[in-house]
Amino acid sequence: MTRAVGILGIGSYVPEKILTNNDLEKMVDTSDAWITERTGIRQRHIAAKDEATSDLAFKAAVAALDDARVKAEELDLVICATASPDHAFPSVACLVQERLGAVKAAAFDLGAGCSGFVYSLAVASQMIQNGLYDKILIIGAETLSRIMNWQDRNTCVLFGDGAGAAVVGAVDEGLGVLGIDLGSDGSGAYHLYQPAGGSRRPASAATVAANQHTIHMNGREVFKFAIKILGRTSLRALEKAGMKPEELDLLFSHQANLRIITVAAKRLRIPMEKVWVDVDKYANTSAASIPIALREAQDAGVLKKGDKLLLCGFGAGLTWAAIVLRWAK
Ligand SMILES: CC(C)(COP(=O)(O)OP(=O)(O)OC[C@H]1O[C@@H](n2cnc3c(N)ncnc32)[C@H](O)[C@@H]1OP(=O)(O)O)[C@@H](O)C(=O)NCCC(=O)NCCS
Repeated sequence: MTRAVGILGIGSYVPEKILTNNDLEKMVDTSDAWITERTGIRQRHIAAKDEATSDLAFKAAVAALDDARVKAEELDLVICATASPDHAFPSVACLVQERLGAVKAAAFDLGAGCSGFVYSLAVASQMIQNGLYDKILIIGAETLSRIMNWQDRNTCVLFGDGAGAAVVGAVDEGLGVLGIDLGSDGSGAYHLYQPAGGSRRPASAATVAANQHTIHMNGREVFKFAIKILGRTSLRALEKAGMKPEELDLLFSHQANLRIITVAAKRLRIPMEKVWVDVDKYANTSAASIPIALREAQDAGVLKKGDKLLLCGFGAGLTWAAIVLRWAK
């Protein structure tokens, strides 16, 4: 059995507290001008002391369920894409499942870095298409501020906290997911990683003192990778959908850096008017960036039923993912 599968509802949540580039100038040797020119970022949201990833995820999930007019009890599965879970285990998805009262849902987290939301949509769409499940909640949620070295200007200016969620289910024929491309190149694994706190380097006083529990990144290598892969994965997903880049109505790239988004759009010959950009407001919220952008576009009234969208991302792994879909709401 196969059926068309798409997004039935979308939700997002970002913490109240805003940290501007000017605020960061007082914390590390950086400047608003440098951050804006090199990344397009102007501010980011930061979770409150008592807010963990599952709290952000829960709020985004409630908004997505409301938007889809789906009850938590109807959900068959909850997937949460995150690189900054509340705990190594249990999964964030299990914590959210319990809080929502999604009593019949299975739940697991998905680790694909910033590509995680698009990966989750790929997994969910296939499970529904095959008839295993009817309704799946997918979430991208991060509190990267908790694993940030606030003395390292190479990383701390780039990231923000937030969550986005979508309810995935059957949609009218011809709408929903049309083409998927996923990939990974583990040879770049250590260009973007958290060195300690896992089985390779368990937590100890020494690892804490050496800041080994924070994000370590070779920014130039990740930049080169992103430039190379975003156009390529997008073209593969478009090919599977039988669509040309010029047919697209809107491009939703992972919001990491405006320069990366601009290069990807250029490769695809998509004018910037068709490219959603909100990295200035939220910075890089990793797995949350694409659903946050989708909800923002919906609230702005620019998403219409039947619109042809491309979602594409890249991230730790190194991973990449692209999905072409026709908006079904
Ligand atoms: C990190 C990134 C913004 C750096 O931009 P860049 O133009 O490549 O800058 P460079 O790495 O060449 O660094 C240029 C200089 O700026 C300095 N610099 C780095 N961060 C700075 C900051 N916040 N403020 C001021 N100067 C900074 C560097 O130390 C370097 O100085 P040096 O030449 O004296 O060594 C860019 O490489 C990038 O976006 N990479 C991808 C990161 C990403 O997307 N990660 C998430 C993946 S999901």
